[in-house]
Amino acid sequence: MHTQVGIDVEQAARLLEQGELVAIPTETVYGLAANALNAQACARIFEVKNRPSFDPLIVHLAASSDCEAALASCARVIPDWALKLARAFWPGPLTLVLPRKPLVPDIVTSGLDTVALRMPAHTLAQRLLERVPFPLAAPSANPFGFVSPTTAQHVLDQLGGRIAYVLDGGSCRVGLESTIVGEQGGRPVVLRLGGLGLEELENALGPLTLATSSGASPGSLESHYAPRTPLYFDDLGYRARGLSPDQVGLLLFRAPLAEVPPDQQEVLSMSGDLNEAARNLFAALRRLDALAASRGLRAIFTQKFPERGLGRAINDRLRRASFRPA
Ligand code: TXA
Ligand code: MG
Repeated sequence: MHTQVGIDVEQAARLLEQGELVAIPTETVYGLAANALNAQACARIFEVKNRPSFDPLIVHLAASSDCEAALASCARVIPDWALKLARAFWPGPLTLVLPRKPLVPDIVTSGLDTVALRMPAHTLAQRLLERVPFPLAAPSANPFGFVSPTTAQHVLDQLGGRIAYVLDGGSCRVGLESTIVGEQGGRPVVLRLGGLGLEELENALGPLTLATSSGASPGSLESHYAPRTPLYFDDLGYRARGLSPDQVGLLLFRAPLAEVPPDQQEVLSMSGDLNEAARNLFAALRRLDALAASRGLRAIFTQKFPERGLGRAINDRLRRASFRPA
C-alpha cells in the first residue's frame, strides 16, 4: 500500500468512510485513526500497530460547546467531576474514562465496560471530525511499545506502506500523550500523567490520587515508550558504566555537558520551559536513537526533570523508557 501524506481532509474522510486507517495530527501526538463505530476497521489498528488486544483505544470526539451532549454520545454515565473537567479543558490534552454505551464496539474498549473519550484541540483533526458522521478511535500512531510520533514524518518512518493516508498537521504543540482520568471507588483518579498538568486538574477538582502504575490502566505497562537504545533515567553516570564520552547520547533539560560531543546531546529547553521540553522530548529521543544506530553509541543517559507541570509526565515517560537489565 502506498501511503500518501497531505492536508486533504476530504480524502481522509472518504478513506475513513471506506473503513481505511488514517493517521491524524492532534495537539498531543499523532493518532492512528479509524471509524470508532466500525469494529473491523478498529481491528486493523491493532494489526498495524502490533498492539495487544487488551490495550484499549481512545475515542476522539468532534468539538462542541455542549460537552455533556458530546460525552453522552458514547458514555452511559457522566459523573459531575467528568463534566467539570470536560468543560474546563476540552478541546485539549485530557482523556476521560467513563462507563460506555453499547454502540461503542468491544474491540475499542478491549471488552471493558468503560470507554476513553477525548476532544482533541487541533484544527485539522477537528475539521475531519466535523466532516465524518462518526467519532474516531485512535491510539498513538507508533508500533506498540515505541515512542509516540509528533510529526507526519515520524508516522511515515514507522507505519509507511501500512496505512492509506497521513494527514499532516505539522509538529504537535504539546508533544506528550493526553492525561487520562478515570474513576475508582466513586472518585476521580489519574490513570496516566500527560499533556495536561496535574496542577491544572487539581485546581479544578481538588487533590487527586495517581493510580499506581501497572494494572491501573492497560496502557500503563511498566515498560513502554521505549527507544531501541538502552536508556538510563536520572543518571548521567556513564563513566561508572565503563563508557567514554564518545559512546553516549545525553538527554538534558537546560544545558549541555562540556565533556560530551555537542551533537550527541539533546537539550530540551535552554530557557527551562517544561512545555517546550515536552514538545521536544519524543523527537529528541528518536534522534538519539538514530544516532546510536549510525554511530554505535552504547546508551542514552538522561536527567530527571523538575516534578511540576509537564515535568512529571516527562519523567514518567523516561522512567518507562528506561533500561532494565533482564
Ligand atoms: O494524546 C493521546 O492520548 C493520544 C492521541 C492520539 O489522542 N492517544 C494515545 O493513545 O496516546 P494510546 O496509544 O496511549 O492508547 C490509549 C490508552 C491505553 O493504552 C490506555 O492506557 C488508555 O488509553 N485507555 C483507553 N481506554 C481505556 C479504558 N477503558 N480504561 C482505562 N484506560 C483506557
Ligand atoms: Mg501509545
